[in-house]
Amino acid sequence: MPVHHQLLATTPRYAVALAAIENETFARRNARTAAREEVVTIPIVVHVVYATPEQNISQEQIDSQLKVLNEDFRRTNPDVGKVPEVWKNVVADARLEFKLADTDPHGKPTSGVVRKETSIEVFEPDHTVKFADRGGADAWPADRYLNVWVCELKSALGFATFPGGPAEIDGLVILHSAFGTTGTVKAPYDGGRTATHEIGHWFNLRHIWGDDGDGCSGSDFVEDTPNQAGHNSGIPDFPKLSCNNGPNGDMFMNYMDYVEDASMYMFTKGQTERMDAALAGPRASFLSPQVRESMRLGTSV
Ligand code: ARG
Ligand code: ZN
Ligand code: CA
Repeated sequence: MPVHHQLLATTPRYAVALAAIENETFARRNARTAAREEVVTIPIVVHVVYATPEQNISQEQIDSQLKVLNEDFRRTNPDVGKVPEVWKNVVADARLEFKLADTDPHGKPTSGVVRKETSIEVFEPDHTVKFADRGGADAWPADRYLNVWVCELKSALGFATFPGGPAEIDGLVILHSAFGTTGTVKAPYDGGRTATHEIGHWFNLRHIWGDDGDGCSGSDFVEDTPNQAGHNSGIPDFPKLSCNNGPNGDMFMNYMDYVEDASMYMFTKGQTERMDAALAGPRASFLSPQVRESMRLGTSV
């Protein structure tokens, strides 16, 4: 959120774009647009920016992250059965899949992994890692690739950009020890859920508590997530009440809360509708022409 507020303050165009995106999202929701049936695959480029051999994570670690994403966004994660009975009817298959890019921006075959040595041992949670001339690696075109930078990161597990911002900084930055499920990962953030959470943001999801500190007036603009005071952490016990949201309480097991990886295992239908609105609008370049047309009409091919 600090990165988001900084961008809002310095880039007036971003504020205008965000307002337009929210209007479209709201209109789509009110029209009760049919859910997308087609699965959409997002090509990822992983920029491994390293100053030590440890930070130069293995292909196996990268593959382990892709596996988690392809479970979490298809509701095939092994822990989805832990969702409390009362919310089993809102758990959603986001119908999103991810693969490492196989073609680079020049049309040449690629592994989808860029390895870049740097002299910066720890990156601040800002956009430095996204620029080659500052010791990072340049983004690939953000309308065709989801850019993921993996590095040593100070005071954050990761952060993402919302849709509507500048292409050069679009994507996610993830701490290497919170990326995937093997190699350099450290408990309790060794379940690959940081990338799941950040990709939620990349598809315009807000934090489930509404980013209002501990207040009860903030919203994530989603109808089927309970109103929640502040963020949760650790591994809470169900039910965990706040903001008069009893008897079921906070949906702390949602990917958009701040609990440990082992404690988060669901998106809701309302959240996938918001992700669909992002795909119909600012992320539409990732759709085939056919699916783009079906989403514009609100029907399915
Ligand atoms: N942006 C959040 C942070 O850096 C990510 C939280 C991800 N949570 C998780 N359990 N992996 O704190
Ligand atoms: Zn977040
Ligand atoms: Ca709140």
